[in-house]
Amino acid sequence: MNPYGSESDLTGAATLTSCPTSFIPKAVRGSLFFFLDDPGTDNDPVSSYRYYEDGILILTDDGHIADIGSATDMQSRYGLTHRDIIDHSGKLIVPGFIDTHTHYPQSGIIAAYGYQLIEWLEKYAFPAEAEFIDKHYARTISRFFLSELLRNGTTTALIFGSVHKVSAEALFEEAEKLNMRIIGGKIMMDRNAPQYLLDTPETAYSDSKALIETWHNKRGRIRYAITPRFAATSSNEQLQTAQRLYHAYDDVYLQTHVSENQHEIAWVKRLFPSSKSYLNVYNDFGLVGPRSIFAHGIHLTDDEFKLLADKNAAIAFCPTSNLFLGSGLFNFNHACLASVRLTLGTDIGAGTSFSMLKTMAEAYKVVQLQSNFASASKKKAALTPFKAFYMTTLGAARALFLEDKIGTLQPGKEGDFIVLNPDATPLLSFRMKKTLTLADRLFAFMMLADDRAINAVYLMGKRWQNSEA
Ligand code: GUN
Ligand code: ZN
Repeated sequence: MNPYGSESDLTGAATLTSCPTSFIPKAVRGSLFFFLDDPGTDNDPVSSYRYYEDGILILTDDGHIADIGSATDMQSRYGLTHRDIIDHSGKLIVPGFIDTHTHYPQSGIIAAYGYQLIEWLEKYAFPAEAEFIDKHYARTISRFFLSELLRNGTTTALIFGSVHKVSAEALFEEAEKLNMRIIGGKIMMDRNAPQYLLDTPETAYSDSKALIETWHNKRGRIRYAITPRFAATSSNEQLQTAQRLYHAYDDVYLQTHVSENQHEIAWVKRLFPSSKSYLNVYNDFGLVGPRSIFAHGIHLTDDEFKLLADKNAAIAFCPTSNLFLGSGLFNFNHACLASVRLTLGTDIGAGTSFSMLKTMAEAYKVVQLQSNFASASKKKAALTPFKAFYMTTLGAARALFLEDKIGTLQPGKEGDFIVLNPDATPLLSFRMKKTLTLADRLFAFMMLADDRAINAVYLMGKRWQNSEA
């Protein structure tokens, strides 16, 4: 017996492949799973989620979710006929994944051998980013990058461009064509990097401002993130311009890096001797607040976690990158105890996978590696499968202040959802048949699945088809 619904595949692939991408179905059937609230660290936090083993999602004509419930209820309430329904029975439908930290210009340097952060930036990242001065190239890589996100079930991402304004324009233009909800920005960087990649406080300000005024809440589903690369590559003057922009526009984001690597931390301390800590450099410039997302935060102190929590800022935990660069093990336990808004990021190209399922798996292992050392007097936080899926859906949407739009499957939300196939590989299928609970099934997906398990991706109710393939 397939745990995700009836054995019968009423329409299956034949119906699906005949759907043009412009088509918004009236109803989509399958097992449905989404969160209403933070599951915390409970092993089975039933009140935090909804699960319909055989469910139907009703869509509006413009691709929003109109209703959701058991297939029996929805069929009788809406008088659905066979022709109204796209049938994914036997598969699990969840909100599209949200990747809260990634760099599209680094797509070509994933798996670059041999260095830790600072040398890796100099040897690989900076030369790769230099190519994004060419808008045509930026457009080609944007297309590839966005289709990799979608192939992996990621429907929203918070994305770094390069220092070049055209890099952000190309990314936004391609995302607009897909009607994909993304947040991005051009890097601000006016020191401690090769001359060919530097802007100035003035050009960083005017380019970012122009991008905000053209794109932010203006075209497609695009929002802007002010993007100082990290404290070490921005002067005081440039961080002041970032502050001006962050406070001048409604809903703009701030994305940067913090406390990733011990050498980086020591360097930032030398550059900003009067700041109390690395995070406080940003705070001293008024950059820690709602909609600010800090990547990594591996070596943050409890005071810094508290500051993030107090200011409603968020951390993007990027386990594949942290392991790949040998940066360290993110202290998930302390971050949870401080009630910091926690999300997951791939951090392409230091991260090694576009898949949020693989990212969840590596996050689990990072937490496991530290669980023996957690203080016995404090409550230990485990990365349950519920928490991992929450951090990748509703938890990320909340951290981005987008929970009224994405991250869950409740009525009124945008129809961004994905279909996971429990039979995608022989091993996944074999393991899945041995599972007894929903928690076991989610855990099997997060530990064993990857892009092969992403059976379908819907953006605003329309099924995405990969024209890059
Ligand atoms: N810190 C500053 N820039 C970067 C970057 O591009 N990748 C990572 N992982 N860390 C950074
Ligand atoms: Zn990064």
